[in-house]
Amino acid sequence: MAYQLPQLKRILIWLATSKEVTNFTYGLDSNNRLQLASIISLITQVDTNKVLSYFEEIEQDIDLRELIKTSICQGNSLDRNSSDANVQYGRRIGWYAFVRILKPKVVIETGIDKGLGSCVICSALLRNQAEGHSGQYYGTDINPDAGFLFTSPYDQVGKILYGDSIESLQLLSESIDLFINDSDHSADYEMEEYKVIQEKLSLKSVILGDNSHETDKLQRFAMNTNRKFIFFKEKPKKHWYPGGGIGIAWS
Ligand SMILES: C[S@@+](CC[C@H](N)C(=O)[O-])C[C@H]1O[C@@H](n2cnc3c(N)ncnc32)[C@H](O)[C@@H]1O
Repeated sequence: MAYQLPQLKRILIWLATSKEVTNFTYGLDSNNRLQLASIISLITQVDTNKVLSYFEEIEQDIDLRELIKTSICQGNSLDRNSSDANVQYGRRIGWYAFVRILKPKVVIETGIDKGLGSCVICSALLRNQAEGHSGQYYGTDINPDAGFLFTSPYDQVGKILYGDSIESLQLLSESIDLFINDSDHSADYEMEEYKVIQEKLSLKSVILGDNSHETDKLQRFAMNTNRKFIFFKEKPKKHWYPGGGIGIAWS
C-alpha cells in the first residue's frame, strides 16, 4: 500500500487536472535529474554542474513557456485540447543539454507530436547560434497536423519533413551529428530508422533512442556499429506514468 497509494493519488489528480492522454508531460524527480546530468557528463566529459546549468537554462526559458501557454490556450484543434499549458520537459532536458554541449550542425528528431521536443531542441540551437555555432534541425512526422507549437523563432533553425520517417530519412543528404528516434515505437521500425541513418552519421555522432525502455534495438545497433551504449531510466515527478528514458549510443 505504501508503494501504491501515492500512485493512486497521482492518478486522481491527473484525472481531475490534466488533458493529456498520451505523450504525458512532467518534470523529473530531483535525484533522477541529477543522475541524468551525471550520465551526460560522463559521456561528453563536461562537468556535471555545467550540464545542470543547461538544464536550468531550458527550464527557466520564459519565452518558450509563454509560447506553449499561448499556443495551447488560444488554439482549438484536437491536439490543443489534449495538451496541458503548464508543461515541464521531462527527459527532453537531456536532449537540450546534448545539443548545447555537442554543438551539432545537423540534429534530427523523428516523431514530433505537438512539437515540444522540436522547440526544446531549436531553443538550444538558437543559443548555440548566438554563440557562433550554427546548426539545423529536421523533425519528421507522418501526421500532417503535427507540430502546432513549432513556430517562430524556433522554425528559423529548423523544419518539419512531413511523411513517413524512413522515407524522409532516405532522402536526407546531410551528415547527421545528433539523431533522436521518437516516431513509430514498434521495435522493427525503430531498427529500420537506425539502419537508414547508419551511413549518414558523422564520426562523433550521438544517437538518442526514445524506445530503449521497451526494446534492445539501439543497444544492438550500438554493439553492431562499435558504439558504446547506456540507458537512462526516467522517473517522473508527481505523475503516475512510470516514465520512458533515453537510450544513448556514442562512439
Ligand atoms: C511520442 S510522439 C513524439 C513526441 C515528441 N518527440 C515530443 O518530444 O513530444 C510520436 C510521433 O511519431 C509520429 N509517427 C508515428 N509513426 C510515424 C512514422 N512512420 N513516420 C513519422 N512519424 C511517425 C506520430 O504521429 C507522433 O506524432
